[in-house]
Amino acid sequence: MKNIVLIGFMGTGKTSTGRALSQRLGKAFIDLDQYIEEAAGETIPQMFEQRGEAYFRAREREAVEQVAGRQNAVISTGGGTVKDPINVSLLKRRGVMVCLTARPETILARTAHTGERPVLDGEDTGDRLLAIERLLKERERFYAQADFSVDTSDVSPMQVTERIVRALKARGELRG
Ligand code: S3P
Repeated sequence: MKNIVLIGFMGTGKTSTGRALSQRLGKAFIDLDQYIEEAAGETIPQMFEQRGEAYFRAREREAVEQVAGRQNAVISTGGGTVKDPINVSLLKRRGVMVCLTARPETILARTAHTGERPVLDGEDTGDRLLAIERLLKERERFYAQADFSVDTSDVSPMQVTERIVRALKARGELRG
Protein backbone atom coordinates (compact mmCIF):
# COMPACT_ATOMS: atom_id res chain seq x y z
CA MET A 1 0.00 0.00 0.00
CA LYS A 2 1.14 3.51 -0.84
CA ASN A 3 1.92 6.08 1.81
CA ILE A 4 -0.38 9.04 2.26
CA VAL A 5 1.66 12.21 2.53
CA LEU A 6 0.05 15.34 3.97
CA ILE A 7 1.53 18.64 2.84
CA GLY A 8 0.39 22.23 3.29
CA PHE A 9 0.95 25.49 5.09
CA MET A 10 1.45 25.81 8.85
CA GLY A 11 -1.85 25.57 10.73
CA THR A 12 -3.74 23.57 8.12
CA GLY A 13 -4.04 20.58 10.47
CA LYS A 14 -1.44 18.22 9.00
CA THR A 15 -0.52 16.63 12.32
CA SER A 16 -4.03 16.25 13.79
CA THR A 17 -5.49 15.06 10.50
CA GLY A 18 -2.55 12.73 9.93
CA ARG A 19 -3.06 11.09 13.29
CA ALA A 20 -6.83 10.70 12.75
CA LEU A 21 -6.33 9.39 9.20
CA SER A 22 -3.74 6.83 10.31
CA GLN A 23 -6.16 5.51 12.94
CA ARG A 24 -9.06 5.45 10.47
CA LEU A 25 -7.02 3.45 7.93
CA GLY A 26 -4.97 1.34 10.35
CA LYS A 27 -1.70 2.72 9.02
CA ALA A 28 1.39 3.82 10.92
CA PHE A 29 1.69 7.55 11.57
CA ILE A 30 4.89 9.53 11.10
CA ASP A 31 5.03 13.23 11.92
CA LEU A 32 8.11 14.57 10.15
CA ASP A 33 8.67 17.53 12.51
CA GLN A 34 8.53 15.23 15.53
CA TYR A 35 10.83 12.74 13.80
CA ILE A 36 13.37 15.52 13.14
CA GLU A 37 13.18 16.77 16.74
CA GLU A 38 13.69 13.28 18.14
CA ALA A 39 16.61 12.55 15.81
CA ALA A 40 18.29 15.89 16.60
CA GLY A 41 17.52 15.88 20.32
CA GLU A 42 16.33 19.47 20.19
CA THR A 43 13.20 21.37 19.21
CA ILE A 44 12.72 23.02 15.82
CA PRO A 45 12.67 26.56 17.30
CA GLN A 46 15.98 25.73 19.05
CA MET A 47 17.48 24.48 15.78
CA PHE A 48 16.48 27.67 13.93
CA GLU A 49 17.71 29.87 16.76
CA GLN A 50 21.04 28.19 17.44
CA ARG A 51 22.00 26.71 14.07
CA GLY A 52 19.91 28.50 11.45
CA GLU A 53 17.34 27.45 8.87
CA ALA A 54 19.85 25.75 6.52
CA TYR A 55 20.77 23.33 9.30
CA PHE A 56 17.09 22.53 9.89
CA ARG A 57 16.44 22.01 6.16
CA ALA A 58 19.37 19.56 5.97
CA ARG A 59 17.95 17.58 8.93
CA GLU A 60 14.54 17.73 7.24
CA ARG A 61 15.99 16.26 4.02
CA GLU A 62 17.65 13.44 5.99
CA ALA A 63 14.36 12.69 7.72
CA VAL A 64 12.54 12.55 4.36
CA GLU A 65 15.20 10.18 3.01
CA GLN A 66 14.60 7.92 6.00
CA VAL A 67 10.79 7.91 6.07
CA ALA A 68 9.91 8.11 2.36
CA GLY A 69 10.89 4.49 1.82
CA ARG A 70 8.36 3.18 4.34
CA GLN A 71 5.18 1.51 3.19
CA ASN A 72 1.59 1.87 4.28
CA ALA A 73 2.17 4.92 6.45
CA VAL A 74 0.54 8.31 6.85
CA ILE A 75 3.29 10.94 6.80
CA SER A 76 2.64 14.53 7.93
CA THR A 77 5.25 16.94 6.63
CA GLY A 78 6.28 20.43 7.76
CA GLY A 79 5.00 23.49 5.94
CA GLY A 80 8.28 24.00 4.09
CA THR A 81 9.16 20.38 3.28
CA VAL A 82 7.88 20.57 -0.30
CA LYS A 83 9.99 23.62 -1.15
CA ASP A 84 12.78 21.10 -1.77
CA PRO A 85 12.18 19.29 -5.09
CA ILE A 86 14.15 16.25 -3.94
CA ASN A 87 11.87 15.89 -0.92
CA VAL A 88 8.88 16.00 -3.27
CA SER A 89 10.19 13.32 -5.60
CA LEU A 90 11.23 11.07 -2.70
CA LEU A 91 7.83 11.40 -1.01
CA LYS A 92 5.90 10.92 -4.26
CA ARG A 93 7.75 7.78 -5.23
CA ARG A 94 5.72 5.68 -2.81
CA GLY A 95 3.03 8.11 -1.78
CA VAL A 96 -0.14 9.93 -2.70
CA MET A 97 0.35 13.59 -1.85
CA VAL A 98 -2.60 15.41 -0.29
CA CYS A 99 -2.50 19.16 0.36
CA LEU A 100 -4.44 20.56 3.31
CA THR A 101 -5.51 24.18 2.92
CA ALA A 102 -7.21 26.79 5.09
CA ARG A 103 -8.22 30.43 4.83
CA PRO A 104 -5.54 32.91 5.99
CA GLU A 105 -7.80 34.01 8.90
CA THR A 106 -8.18 30.39 10.02
CA ILE A 107 -4.42 29.87 9.77
CA LEU A 108 -3.93 33.04 11.84
CA ALA A 109 -6.24 31.74 14.59
CA ARG A 110 -4.40 28.40 14.63
CA THR A 111 -0.89 29.87 14.62
CA ALA A 112 -1.37 32.93 16.83
CA HIS A 113 1.14 31.67 19.43
CA THR A 114 4.61 33.02 18.76
CA GLY A 115 7.76 31.03 19.52
CA GLU A 116 6.59 27.80 17.90
CA ARG A 117 6.91 28.55 14.18
CA PRO A 118 10.17 30.34 13.43
CA VAL A 119 9.47 30.85 9.71
CA LEU A 120 6.18 32.63 10.39
CA ASP A 121 7.61 34.57 13.34
CA GLY A 122 10.48 35.70 11.10
CA GLU A 123 8.09 36.96 8.42
CA ASP A 124 5.85 38.69 10.97
CA THR A 125 6.85 42.32 11.41
CA GLY A 126 3.67 43.29 13.24
CA ASP A 127 0.87 42.21 10.93
CA ARG A 128 0.73 38.42 11.25
CA LEU A 129 -2.15 38.00 8.78
CA LEU A 130 -0.14 39.84 6.14
CA ALA A 131 2.86 37.62 6.89
CA ILE A 132 0.66 34.54 6.37
CA GLU A 133 -0.72 35.89 3.11
CA ARG A 134 2.76 36.71 1.82
CA LEU A 135 4.14 33.27 2.65
CA LEU A 136 1.05 31.55 1.21
CA LYS A 137 1.53 33.39 -2.08
CA GLU A 138 5.22 32.53 -2.17
CA ARG A 139 4.48 28.83 -1.51
CA GLU A 140 1.38 28.36 -3.68
CA ARG A 141 3.35 26.66 -6.45
CA PHE A 142 4.92 24.16 -4.06
CA TYR A 143 1.59 23.12 -2.58
CA ALA A 144 0.15 22.78 -6.10
CA GLN A 145 2.35 19.68 -6.52
CA ALA A 146 -0.15 17.62 -4.49
CA ASP A 147 -2.36 15.02 -6.16
CA PHE A 148 -5.41 16.74 -4.63
CA SER A 149 -6.32 19.27 -1.92
CA VAL A 150 -8.79 19.40 0.96
CA ASP A 151 -9.93 22.60 2.69
CA THR A 152 -9.82 22.28 6.48
CA SER A 153 -11.16 25.75 7.37
CA ASP A 154 -14.52 24.94 8.94
CA VAL A 155 -14.18 21.23 9.61
CA SER A 156 -12.74 18.93 12.25
CA PRO A 157 -9.82 16.54 11.65
CA MET A 158 -12.38 13.69 11.61
CA GLN A 159 -14.34 15.37 8.84
CA VAL A 160 -11.16 16.13 6.90
CA THR A 161 -10.22 12.47 7.31
CA GLU A 162 -13.53 11.33 5.80
CA ARG A 163 -13.07 13.69 2.85
CA ILE A 164 -9.57 12.35 2.22
CA VAL A 165 -10.81 8.75 2.45
CA ARG A 166 -13.61 9.47 -0.05
CA ALA A 167 -11.22 11.14 -2.46
CA LEU A 168 -8.70 8.29 -2.19
CA LYS A 169 -11.45 5.72 -2.90
CA ALA A 170 -12.71 7.72 -5.87
CA ARG A 171 -9.15 7.77 -7.25
CA GLY A 172 -8.78 4.03 -6.76
CA GLU A 173 -6.04 4.48 -4.17
CA LEU A 174 -8.02 2.71 -1.43
CA ARG A 175 -10.13 -0.39 -1.46
CA GLY A 176 -13.63 -0.58 0.01
C1 S3P B 1 7.92 25.21 8.66
C2 S3P B 1 6.81 24.61 9.22
C3 S3P B 1 6.87 23.83 10.46
C4 S3P B 1 8.27 23.27 10.71
C5 S3P B 1 9.28 24.36 10.61
C6 S3P B 1 9.28 25.07 9.25
C7 S3P B 1 7.75 26.00 7.41
O1 S3P B 1 5.94 22.77 10.42
O2 S3P B 1 8.58 22.25 9.81
O3 S3P B 1 9.02 25.29 11.63
O4 S3P B 1 8.75 26.34 6.76
O5 S3P B 1 6.58 26.26 7.04
P1 S3P B 1 4.32 22.94 10.54
O6 S3P B 1 3.79 23.20 9.16
O7 S3P B 1 3.88 21.64 11.08
O8 S3P B 1 4.07 24.10 11.48
